[in-house]
Amino acid sequence: MTSQNDWPVLKVNNLTVEYETPRGMLRAADDVSFELWPGQRFGLVGESGSGKTTTALALMRLTQLPGRIVGGEVLLDGVDLLSLSENRMREMRLAQISYVPQGAMNSLNPVVKIGNQIANGFKDHVDNISSSEISERIVEVLRSVGLDPAVSRMYPHELSGGMKQRVAIAIAVSLGPKVIIADEPTSALDVVVQREVMLTLRRLQEEIGAAVLIVGHDMGLMAQFASHVGVMYAGKLVEVGQVSDIFDDPFHPYTRALIGSLPSTSRRHRLAGIPGLPPALLELPGGCSFNPRCDSVMDVCRSVDPTFDQLRDGRWASCHLYEEAGAAR
Ligand SMILES: Nc1ncnc2c1ncn2[C@@H]1O[C@H](COP(=O)(O)OP(=O)(O)O)[C@@H](O)[C@H]1O
Ligand code: SF4
Ligand SMILES: [Mg+2]
Repeated sequence: MTSQNDWPVLKVNNLTVEYETPRGMLRAADDVSFELWPGQRFGLVGESGSGKTTTALALMRLTQLPGRIVGGEVLLDGVDLLSLSENRMREMRLAQISYVPQGAMNSLNPVVKIGNQIANGFKDHVDNISSSEISERIVEVLRSVGLDPAVSRMYPHELSGGMKQRVAIAIAVSLGPKVIIADEPTSALDVVVQREVMLTLRRLQEEIGAAVLIVGHDMGLMAQFASHVGVMYAGKLVEVGQVSDIFDDPFHPYTRALIGSLPSTSRRHRLAGIPGLPPALLELPGGCSFNPRCDSVMDVCRSVDPTFDQLRDGRWASCHLYEEAGAAR
């Protein structure tokens, strides 16, 4: 017998997003493919500008001009979100797949009380829900993120950054979605609050059995929270695998550099940083985009773009160093 755990809840195939800019077309998500399994916590990491937000927005079909999704599939339980009508997609958002936007604490409406902002989701998605039931569910959802129900009568400016972030998470989990996408949910918070918010998110996703895609630039924070990571570079996923495997034995030279730059790993105790600058997407070098910064660069890397191959079960990378291993499968 098959159960829901036999299938990825989200399967992304060759997702490609472009921005039309005055200087030309810029491909900010390039052929991105990965799977998210029920209950999994998948961290999407990479430097600023690598295409993480672009990818997250496209999964929600919230890409706005000058951006356009030009190819690929986003299968939620087998249904391609990219082919749904806008009305059907609106029904899916929040109820099936929800999004905590980057800078979520600033995304709350400043002139609407918190309770009313949470209520909107129930009103839009739950048929014939009574106002007393809405009130009960607001109390429940605020408590679930560790906030006092009295917060429901407050306006965003009366709350701290951490509390606003909790409200954004409360809204995202309020309808028990299968997938939660959280874009840099803790970046503007201090370290203690960061940890509390991450623990809250983790407890909630476990309680509702949702899978989480968490976007971030901090490999160290990701290692504490995620079970799997996907590393992005210049719009492409360059490595995917379990956190423990990737930390024990990173394949891609960029992943190695990211891990090596962490201050607290046992391998290195000093902050190494990654030499060179992230590439401008309009002026990518030929071949592998990482080649100008790569310490293992070969001739082939300057002319041929490596393919993203499964090298072992659940372990993917795009790098010429491993091409034979991929081909031997
Ligand atoms: N609205 C936009 N118009 C043009 N380019 C954009 C727009 N939004 C993002 N980009 C470009 O797409 C690339 C990826 O951006 P983004 O997805 O925000 O990266 P990340 O979230 O990893 O920092 C960057 O080069 C950025 O300049
Ligand atoms: S393909 Fe070549 S340049 Fe790119 S990461 Fe691998 S070794 Fe480095
Ligand atoms: Mg971003």
